[in-house]
Amino acid sequence: MQKSSMKAIQIKKYGSNDVVEVNETAPAPSLSSGKILVNIKASGVNPVDWKIREGYMQQIMPLQFPSTLGLDFSGVVKQVEEDAHSDFKQGDEVYGQASIFSGGSGAFAELALASKDSIAHKPKTLNYLEAAALPLVGVSAWQAFVEHIGLSKDKKVLVQGGAGGIGSIGIQLAKHLGAFVATTVSTDDKQFVQELGADQVIDYKTENFEDIVHDYDAVFDTVGGDTYKRSFKVLKKGSGMIVSTLEQPNSELMHQYGIKAVFLFSQVNRQRLIKLAEWVDQNNIKVNIDKTFSLDEAAKALDYQKEGHPRGKLVLTI
Ligand SMILES: NC(=O)c1ccc[n+]([C@@H]2O[C@H](COP(=O)([O-])OP(=O)(O)OC[C@H]3O[C@@H](n4cnc5c(N)ncnc54)[C@H](OP(=O)(O)O)[C@@H]3O)[C@@H](O)[C@H]2O)c1
Repeated sequence: MQKSSMKAIQIKKYGSNDVVEVNETAPAPSLSSGKILVNIKASGVNPVDWKIREGYMQQIMPLQFPSTLGLDFSGVVKQVEEDAHSDFKQGDEVYGQASIFSGGSGAFAELALASKDSIAHKPKTLNYLEAAALPLVGVSAWQAFVEHIGLSKDKKVLVQGGAGGIGSIGIQLAKHLGAFVATTVSTDDKQFVQELGADQVIDYKTENFEDIVHDYDAVFDTVGGDTYKRSFKVLKKGSGMIVSTLEQPNSELMHQYGIKAVFLFSQVNRQRLIKLAEWVDQNNIKVNIDKTFSLDEAAKALDYQKEGHPRGKLVLTI
């Protein structure tokens, strides 16, 4: 019988963690056209989750309250439209996004409705926790290196923030594409990124990356601010490129250094998730889970994401 209620992590207003509620009797989403109903096994936590909670996105993407938090998930298909042709069937293991902003019902819940265009079959070599951690960070790295930079063999790239969710996948993708990879991390994370394949590791707490790397082909910036601005100095004049997940192109610096700059707007879609899963399965890619939390501990997980300096990813187990 169809479940009529479920546990979901919701907010009724923007704010810090005291607005996060565990709703034990949230209405279970019901199937609608173009959507798939998924039994969630695990939900990945991203910095954007606490930014949404705090209302940073409300100008461009206002929420209707109560609103279920969470974007990334892995799970098992519970229901698909009976009459419609679908690439998914009941029981399929899937991963992707159930974001409110892309027609989903929110991933921090026992059940979620996701748009067919926002999911794909889960990578076979990853367990549910690892697969839930992958969608946003994996697609971000893919868009940066494959689609924007077109990274190729023997190019030199600097990954700013190599121990983070995006950075830790980005290092592996850039190595796979044949690049020489330098990365900035804090002291404790040096060994972690060396094990992911980084060729040159720079401790951002004690060293200035611009004193160490020069004439690079590309920078992938997941840190922003001063790090973004200083990154222009290490790129090849005329042909260098910086892609940032945080900063809009700075035209003054682009002109001064002769650099192409791009703001990366990550868009998780089915085609990218399929390619990502193939790449992960064929290349033994590692998704590092720093910590797991129960669904009830979602507020704690958001705090840890914001302040705890996770190495790789945080995941809620459902
Ligand atoms: N535009 C988009 O569509 C889009 C998509 C996805 C993500 N984002 C944004 O991109 C950012 C990165 O995402 P993420 O999931 O990778 O976050 P994350 O897991 O928190 O990783 C950020 C990493 O940056 C490191 N870091 C902080 N200050 C640094 C510095 N000065 N130099 C070098 N590294 C530094 C952190 O290391 P420590 O912990 O040691 O400080 C951490 O490992 C977030 O702000 C996120 O909201 C944007």
